Amino acid sequence: MTVLWSRADLEAATSGRFPPSGAVTIAGTGVSIDTRTLRPGDVFIALIGENSNGHAHAAAALAAGAAAVVAHEPCGDDPRILKVDDTLAAMQGMARFARARFAGRMLAVTGSVGKTSVKDMLHAALSACGPTHCAVASYNNHWGVPLTLARLPAASAYCVCEIGMNHAGEIAPLAAMVRPDVAVVTTVAASHLGLMGSIDAIAREKAELLLALPAGGIAVVAAGIAGSDHFERNAAKARATLWRTGTTADCAAQAGDVAQDAQGSTFSLTLPDWQGVARVNAPGRHMADNAMLALAAAHAAGADMARAVAGLATFRPGAGRGALAKVMHDKVALLDESYNASPASVCAALDLLGLVATGRRIAVLGDMLELGAFARHEHASLLPAVRANADAVFCCGPNMKTLFDSLPPALRGAWAPDSTTLAPLVRTALRAGDTVMVKGSLGSRMRHVVAALQADDARVGPA
Ligand SMILES: Nc1ncnc2c1ncn2[C@@H]1O[C@H](COP(=O)(O)OP(=O)(O)OP(=O)(O)O)[C@@H](O)[C@H]1O
Ligand SMILES: [Mg+2]
Repeated sequence: MTVLWSRADLEAATSGRFPPSGAVTIAGTGVSIDTRTLRPGDVFIALIGENSNGHAHAAAALAAGAAAVVAHEPCGDDPRILKVDDTLAAMQGMARFARARFAGRMLAVTGSVGKTSVKDMLHAALSACGPTHCAVASYNNHWGVPLTLARLPAASAYCVCEIGMNHAGEIAPLAAMVRPDVAVVTTVAASHLGLMGSIDAIAREKAELLLALPAGGIAVVAAGIAGSDHFERNAAKARATLWRTGTTADCAAQAGDVAQDAQGSTFSLTLPDWQGVARVNAPGRHMADNAMLALAAAHAAGADMARAVAGLATFRPGAGRGALAKVMHDKVALLDESYNASPASVCAALDLLGLVATGRRIAVLGDMLELGAFARHEHASLLPAVRANADAVFCCGPNMKTLFDSLPPALRGAWAPDSTTLAPLVRTALRAGDTVMVKGSLGSRMRHVVAALQADDARVGPA
């Protein structure tokens, strides 16, 4: 296996020191922050979390075959322990070091919703063109981004980072660490609106990513995005080129003939110096929009587009993000959207329900969280999308009560205070041929409803 972290590189990246006596060879082949998933050869970084201290697991990491342990608290005298001033700062140092030695193309994806979907689509598309390193899951914050970079093999052709935020000021330092050649902004919408205050403030924050582009870098931004001025201004400031993706003639990445079916979408795409037809095997207009962004970004990164298009076709929606399966002895189709929810993604999921359902359309909705003073209004404003795409609606949580009470009586299934109470009510109401879509914020625990629907299925496979 290729060595990712040598002794000299680790010391240089972190300004730390291994014990001078008994020098052992250090050959880290990976990076870990959790001994439960540590693989032999990993460099273990003992981070301090909200409810955990990695230093307590240093001995377990060494016993499990860690190549080195990065620590700032006393952890014994093993020659593999690298003493640093602060382990989070050390990981950030490793991130900057790994970024500096990387000669491939760096892509960064931000946005209110769709980051992981676009990142995973880019992974599928770029892996067909060359060795591609990608953030794991949604590793997009102050530890997820540096961890992704610290794991970046120098010889990769492409790296795709996901950059997220809950508060103002979080994007800029992460963007400066990533230094993207290509910056992608998926959407600006009401996620974390309670903390950010306004859609314009969210757009201003996302646009910070563009300031980290080099002169001549490319920003790929969805046409019609809210707060458009911020993206134009920051692209100009960075002397970067702005590519819009959309269906109008003024888009540098222009899609046409978008044909949607229950399995995905096919569209033609015209990019600067490239034209072709692409397919994304994830249904819903939002996934087609994400695919346009991913292909435009792949082209901006210099990828071979025939390969990228073929690679994209292997993408499948992730767990809780629109995966479709048969449940209740194959009688009911379940659209599992239980991973998370914001106003934009609930509307997208309702449209998806309308698109894929062949029988009754059942929506099961839990509270969208982190909307602060905007919560009532944002929940109530789902009404038109619900009326257009559902035949029966089940809700849980205090905020969804507002929506539920405003529904015409014919659409009202049931309301319950929480997902555990709601689950059996949904199950009892379902009939053969129904399609049920389950969505809510992570904290609303809608996975309990999904689990109740999957309960007695020996086999849970694609529909
Ligand atoms: N372009 C889009 N517009 C609206 N909804 C979308 C879009 N892309 C994805 N979604 C939906 O939003 C939810 C989250 O998707 P995804 O995980 O890709 O977003 P994310 O930005 O990475 O979220 P997180 O901030 O939680 O990491 C899913 O339910 C998905 O179907
Ligand atoms: Mg994500």
